[in-house]
Amino acid sequence: MEIFLDSSDIKEIKGLNKANLVDGITTNPSLLASANTNFKILLKEICGEIKGPVSAEVTSPDIPSMLKEADVLRKIAKNIVIKVPLTWNGLQVCSILSEKKVKVNVTLCFSTSQALLAAKAGATYVSPFIGRLDDIGENGIQLIEDIKKIFNNYKNIKTKILSASIRSIEHFNAVAAIGSDVATVPVKIFKELHKHHLTDKGVDIFTADWKKSGMKILT
Ligand code: G3P
Repeated sequence: MEIFLDSSDIKEIKGLNKANLVDGITTNPSLLASANTNFKILLKEICGEIKGPVSAEVTSPDIPSMLKEADVLRKIAKNIVIKVPLTWNGLQVCSILSEKKVKVNVTLCFSTSQALLAAKAGATYVSPFIGRLDDIGENGIQLIEDIKKIFNNYKNIKTKILSASIRSIEHFNAVAAIGSDVATVPVKIFKELHKHHLTDKGVDIFTADWKKSGMKILT
């Protein structure tokens, strides 16, 4: 499974990219707005740091403006993926851009029918939001499982499932077990992924035993 960072915090992105474990970035209007800086310069910097796909979202509701915005965003860097909402207009924009071989991430997906339409519209990625479904008492993980099953039924579907709105390590592990192609995770969760208390305990024990022995690897 590819791991994307759901962030527009360039400092955090640079820090977390040091282990080469970040395969891509997803941004959204809320994240870019919270950075409170020139979004084009910021996106360019992010695209320079992360060579994989960087999603940037259009914000207009009508098709002509969405297409114009997509053009502006695409010019920022080669690895920009155009993110469109899963609305009727968003699907049409997805079709138009996909025909032109532009990569599109169709976001704000909350149902299997929506995911199937995004795939038929040629989306490179569809982003089902797990946490926000859980928020309203539904089962976000079940949605990923259902979409995976449907996509597996049709070999011509190439759209990747990009699990989004991930709020916990349990979400992350569950989507990996289902076979989500990508999980986009906030910085806070990404920083937790490598941790286990038994790893820390084990390191402490090995270090203490080695110290007691008096032996040294570096002389
Ligand atoms: O990737 C989508 C994400 O930014 C939404 O997450 O936690 O705001 O539902 P959340």
